[in-house]
Amino acid sequence: MIQTFRVRKLFATDLHEYRAHLLRLDSHTRYSRFGSFVRDAFIESYVESSFRDDALVFGYVEDGLVRGAAEFRPYRGEHGQHAEVAFSVEDDWRRRGIGSSLFEKLIITARNRQTARLVMHCLPENRAMQNLARHFQARIRLAPDERTGIIVNLNPTAMSLAQEATDDWRAFASAAMGIHRRVWGPRQLALDAEPRPRLSPP
Ligand SMILES: CC(C)(COP(=O)(O)OP(=O)(O)OC[C@H]1O[C@@H](n2cnc3c(N)ncnc32)[C@H](O)[C@@H]1OP(=O)(O)O)[C@@H](O)C(=O)NCCC(=O)NCCS
Repeated sequence: MIQTFRVRKLFATDLHEYRAHLLRLDSHTRYSRFGSFVRDAFIESYVESSFRDDALVFGYVEDGLVRGAAEFRPYRGEHGQHAEVAFSVEDDWRRRGIGSSLFEKLIITARNRQTARLVMHCLPENRAMQNLARHFQARIRLAPDERTGIIVNLNPTAMSLAQEATDDWRAFASAAMGIHRRVWGPRQLALDAEPRPRLSPP
């Protein structure tokens, strides 16, 4: 059972961990995620665009490491506001509900940005992604070399607005704690290991 609080919005300060997650993906997963066999250099430059403009990234964070992620990239489409989403869950973390938890966050995000079309592209043989999308009532459009999941007319509700506000506070607190641990953790441990100066002469 996935602890849902571990799925949170990632910030620019999480870029390093997000990059490390994408770099850990094996070649088959990279092919499923990006639609081609991408090298490390591609990921290095790709990840720089993930936190730009209105793009959002959600991650499943365990022991300070991002083990699963989903990107939300909005754009103006012919029917109004559209967004493209893409998922990646590391091999050993699959089939535990992480993809579903990430999808829930994307639906809330899409609702609150009044998204007329949420689209996800995958390869025809990618049953996992298509089944996951169907769980969220996506319509799957078939093309010879691609499948496109589409969810239409996502509008804000009182619940979706409240949920994102609450999630953002938790995400911010969790990211801040992560930074604190990274910056102060090792130093604090080192200080603790040093002999304490005597306060009075022997
Ligand atoms: C697609 C992906 C994100 C699913 O993540 P996940 O964390 O395993 O998903 P969940 O555990 O939440 O599974 C939810 C549902 O998806 C479907 N599903 C997941 N993996 C599946 C698989 N290997 N085969 C068939 N259906 C699968 C099932 O219906 C599952 O529900 P169930 O467990 O009740 O049967 C993951 O397999 C992945 O990262 N794949 C590589 C990258 C990729 O393909 N990205 C998509 C293109 S952007």
